[in-house]
Amino acid sequence: MARIRLAPLLPFLCLMQALALAQYTAYDYGFDVKTRIKRNQLDRRTGLVVRDKTATAAAAAAGDVVEVLVRPEIRQLEQDTDLWTLYILGLSMMQFTDQASPTSYYGLAVAGNENTGYCTHSSVLFPTWHRPYMALYEQVLHGLIETIASFWPEGERERYVAAARRFRLPYWDWAATPPAGESVLPRSIGGSPFIDINGPSGQQRIANPLFSYSFKPLDSTAFGSGPSNNSFVATNLDQNRPSIAQRLYALFSSYDNYTTFSNNAFGAQADSIESLHDTIHSLVGGFGPGQPSSPAGHMAFIQWSAFDPIFFLHHCMVDRVLAIWQTLHPDSWVTPSRALTNSYTIRRGQTLSSTTSLAPFFSNENGSLWDSDGVRDHTKFGYTYAELVHNPKANQNDNQNNKMAQIRTAKQAVNRMYGSFSPASLFLKEIHEAGIKAGPNTPARNRKLPRSATATKLFVGDHYHEWTANVRIAKQAVADASAVHFFLGGAPPHDPREWTAAPNHVGSMGVFASTAAAARSYAPSPAQELGGKHHGAGNHDVAVSGTVPLTAALVKMVAKGELASLEPEDVEGFLRGRLRMRVLGKGGEVVAPGEGCVKGVGVEIVSSLVAAPWSEEELPKWGEERIRH
Ligand SMILES: *[C@@H]1O[C@H](CO)[C@@H](O)[C@H](O)[C@H]1NC(C)=O
Ligand SMILES: *[C@@H]1O[C@H](CO)[C@@H](O)[C@H](O)[C@H]1NC(C)=O
Ligand SMILES: *[C@@H]1O[C@H](CO)[C@@H](O)[C@H](O)[C@H]1NC(C)=O
Repeated sequence: MARIRLAPLLPFLCLMQALALAQYTAYDYGFDVKTRIKRNQLDRRTGLVVRDKTATAAAAAAGDVVEVLVRPEIRQLEQDTDLWTLYILGLSMMQFTDQASPTSYYGLAVAGNENTGYCTHSSVLFPTWHRPYMALYEQVLHGLIETIASFWPEGERERYVAAARRFRLPYWDWAATPPAGESVLPRSIGGSPFIDINGPSGQQRIANPLFSYSFKPLDSTAFGSGPSNNSFVATNLDQNRPSIAQRLYALFSSYDNYTTFSNNAFGAQADSIESLHDTIHSLVGGFGPGQPSSPAGHMAFIQWSAFDPIFFLHHCMVDRVLAIWQTLHPDSWVTPSRALTNSYTIRRGQTLSSTTSLAPFFSNENGSLWDSDGVRDHTKFGYTYAELVHNPKANQNDNQNNKMAQIRTAKQAVNRMYGSFSPASLFLKEIHEAGIKAGPNTPARNRKLPRSATATKLFVGDHYHEWTANVRIAKQAVADASAVHFFLGGAPPHDPREWTAAPNHVGSMGVFASTAAAARSYAPSPAQELGGKHHGAGNHDVAVSGTVPLTAALVKMVAKGELASLEPEDVEGFLRGRLRMRVLGKGGEVVAPGEGCVKGVGVEIVSSLVAAPWSEEELPKWGEERIRH
């Protein structure tokens, strides 16, 4: 017991020490805030109840009915000055809340520990488990923000109370085009260890609760690896964005089966929302791709990844991807499948279904837990996303038309936000500029086609080929690899730290793995005491797969005149001569620096014939995948 209780404190103490070292602290309200925080927020059991805000009778009695409001992108939230102030103060307060409370930042972070604990990996429950988790986090943060708003002196208070009411958790869109001159990594997160905040007691300089790496000394003191470098992380993310956006666009347009879409276990299709999520973790953690040093320290760091505030922004984005995908695929959902890994409450081999409990997230005070069916409609938690809101006045009485309109709105958003690296966007742009209007029902012979020099090389009629590297990495116990990188054109740089920033780097697939050592160092959370049998630390010892899209890089080659077309007869030979693969080992070393085989790594180059969309309200239609290498 002593070990269980003490062990989780260690990193927290290091974390506090790190903050102290940085000389920036929490906001000073001029009184002891603890006494003013609602009792039930600190209570262990009720603290983990994620309320259904639309369960009217009960919620109304508790004064809990809330409007369904849009969760903002973090850069958007920053434009709302009053709410931004409240958000920063709320986060800061959460990070300084007594860690014994399951709703402290500490308690919430441990509940979401990525490699063991409750979190479900390589499982159909991966996306749905994180939904009540984010809703709980939003609920706790919202409570703190409402409390903080009440601290303002009369006269200003009303304004802040009104702002607090509209708070919804922000997400960080790691796939969209950032504003001109900015990195994918927002300045508010990576820019500064401190932030000047005009709170209820005036202007103060406090520790920036969003600064990803103010906790990095945690890494060096506890795990013996150096602090990460935000400018390096930003470069990594920017350089990988074409790959990330293409993967997301493909997930929306060509992954129609929830089972395949949901998780990274090797299956019918190579990519998944989980695998894309893993890549973001790797890039943000400075681990794997491009930064092969100190793998043990980074594994350990990833294990504590929920301590990094960017974790919740990232997972809110994952929830948004799920919500948009659900809108596009309203009939596909969790179907029974077997668990491949253990968690606290799930045994390997157990059948998982849409009614499997998503522990530890309670749906009421009596100990009922949420399940995937229960969280299928996210609006019951009082939030939605802008891409899913269409003109609510249109077709108010026609549910079916409303659903269709919502799907068209979502497709439009997907094309606009994530299509820019796909030939589909060029096709849409050119038919738009040429004033060609044709719908899906226009007979093919009546459709005029884009005629620009590049377009005539990329398209045959309204079809083009998508090219993808499907990567499979076997069990970590078997494989010698932790990441696979692809380059097109000249030779990769000799130093792997220069890989991701190299102009000929196409993308990478990394494994978000846990080592046996990391699993041993993990200490169960206070939340674990709430219930649920411990089935042993979960692990990531299953074959995982992901993709590295090649199309955008090939289109560039076509534009430069180095490649004649996207057709297989041109591309196959080109890739054979120009595509380079490099593999990082488990220790971060370069394995098989040539094109030789690496144990446990399987790569297939595949192509699909794709029908381009004729309007922004359609997505491309992917044909069957053909293996080319
Ligand atoms: C951080 O990374 C950048 C490259 O993105 C590099 O130029 C800089 O020297 C690094 N800083 C440190 C302190 O390592
Ligand atoms: C979805 O994929 C799973 C796993 O490959 C498969 O068992 C299931 O039949 C598929 N569902 C549909 C509707 O095709
Ligand atoms: C919890 O249990 C009590 C006693 O059985 C019952 O009266 C109450 O309605 C239950 N509450 C919920 C939210 O189910």
